[in-house]
Amino acid sequence: MDAPEFYSTFAGLYDALARHGPGVGHLRESLADTLAPDAGDAVVEFGCGTGANHRHLRERVGPTGRYVGVDFSPGVLAVAWDRERADGAAFVRADATRPPITPGSVDACCAAFVSGMLADPAEAVEAWADLVGPGGRLALLDLARTTRPGWRALNPGFRLFVRLGSPPGTATSLSESPTAVLDGRVAAAHRTLRARCTDVTVRTLAGGFARVSAGTVR
Ligand SMILES: C[S@@+](CC[C@H](N)C(=O)[O-])C[C@H]1O[C@@H](n2cnc3c(N)ncnc32)[C@H](O)[C@@H]1O
Repeated sequence: MDAPEFYSTFAGLYDALARHGPGVGHLRESLADTLAPDAGDAVVEFGCGTGANHRHLRERVGPTGRYVGVDFSPGVLAVAWDRERADGAAFVRADATRPPITPGSVDACCAAFVSGMLADPAEAVEAWADLVGPGGRLALLDLARTTRPGWRALNPGFRLFVRLGSPPGTATSLSESPTAVLDGRVAAAHRTLRARCTDVTVRTLAGGFARVSAGTVR
């Protein structure tokens, strides 16, 4: 089962976790807060899933702003369309690493819990930075293992969470454990954002398991 099929099959379950999982609303607020789009801005979210970030971003861009979610899984997009379109959101089925969006037409881009799914997250973040261009805003929210002393004891539980949340066959298709791959990809994505942006904000939340990075593209 590949990722689009996996997310389409479990779209309802994913949506419940994405909206009601413990502490997840706070992480989404933090993403919108650090992305800090202005009222009237056009914001694109890559790997938008069921649209759980839309409400948080909509509050910031207001009625004159625009939100477009991009995802390659039809099942999650169907859930997003059903619930969010009344509120002016648009959703596009496309590969986030080759978004069908004209450079310069967007003020801000973000992605939540997506970097770890990309084979080359650094290249994707470079493409997103090019898309918003100088002065545009970019933000990432991701989970990875914590390095905080008081919390490291929970890393085995996090490994299990990653394994259960990955499409079947992921572990055998990778040369390292899915969690090690996730950690490496998240680090690469956030490193690239820091290299491409000024004015960088970095937050670690949820005991160090969640990282938010945001900045203004140079
Ligand atoms: C863990 S979910 C996160 C969904 C949403 N961002 C959220 O915060 O709830 C990852 C999402 O990224 C999407 N995705 C992963 N790789 C993608 C790609 N290359 N292009 C488009 N969507 C992608 C998946 O279909 C899935 O909906």
